[in-house]
Amino acid sequence: MSFLERVDTAIRRSAAFRSLFRTPYPADERSRAMAVMNNVFLHIHPVRVRQHAVKFAYTFCLGGISFFLFLVLTVTGVYLMFFYVPSATQAYSDILAIQSEVVFGLLTRNIHRWAAHLMVFFVFLHMMRVFYHGAYKPPREFNWVVGVVLLFLTIMLSFTGYLLPWDQIAYWAITIGGNMANYVPVFNRVGQLLVFGGIEVGQNTLLRFYVLHVILLPLVAAVFLAVHFWRIRKDGGISGPL
Ligand code: HEM
Repeated sequence: MSFLERVDTAIRRSAAFRSLFRTPYPADERSRAMAVMNNVFLHIHPVRVRQHAVKFAYTFCLGGISFFLFLVLTVTGVYLMFFYVPSATQAYSDILAIQSEVVFGLLTRNIHRWAAHLMVFFVFLHMMRVFYHGAYKPPREFNWVVGVVLLFLTIMLSFTGYLLPWDQIAYWAITIGGNMANYVPVFNRVGQLLVFGGIEVGQNTLLRFYVLHVILLPLVAAVFLAVHFWRIRKDGGISGPL
């Protein structure tokens, strides 16, 4: 046995290695299934899937693309957070600085913005696909409702992010959006005060939208996504003719 093979064997036998990888290197169907089930990332996928579910033209991977965009938005959003302060006097100049001074700042901002538009688009297409296949019917009716919440969260993430550049288009768009809360029956005044954090768009609104955009809504969305994926498994996988 060569030196490298001996090191390899010693590593594989060590307690630390075995605590990380609990099953031996997968060599047959059973150990492959165990390797998938015992890994936090891999276990999201079922060990077996029905044939129709992996056909690209059945789902067009629209839910998967929506989730991919959510991940892209999270990564690019965290990068942007390093250079952005949600202050009415600083936000706009931060955006300009991100575009001209920050390494890959312009690229990151553009990816974030495009991914946001695309996510709204793909979530909508995904919902259409689900509707077209009648996948809202039992036993998937609960997951449809979880999906509706996800659609609402996606739109709210888009809406709250729109104000953050603090430019004219953002300011007036949110002024219009917030004023719409004025027309909600009974809770109109309270609704607008809640959205604006005052009687008009200002520093309070910016802070409010920022916290919603970078913490609260992504966290709630992550929880609902986990439930959404878990439910797909519990409802017997992707719907289909079988
Ligand atoms: C952030 C938004 C969303 C993400 C990331 C997401 C993700 C996914 C993924 C990955 C699947 C597996 C099948 C596929 O890729 O099509 C799926 C299935 C499903 N989604 Fe979504 N989804 C979202 C929003 C929605 C919305 C808005 C609805 C409906 C209102 C919905 C209802 C469903 C249902 C019922 C299934 C099961 C479909 C079947 O069995 O054919 N989802 N979702």
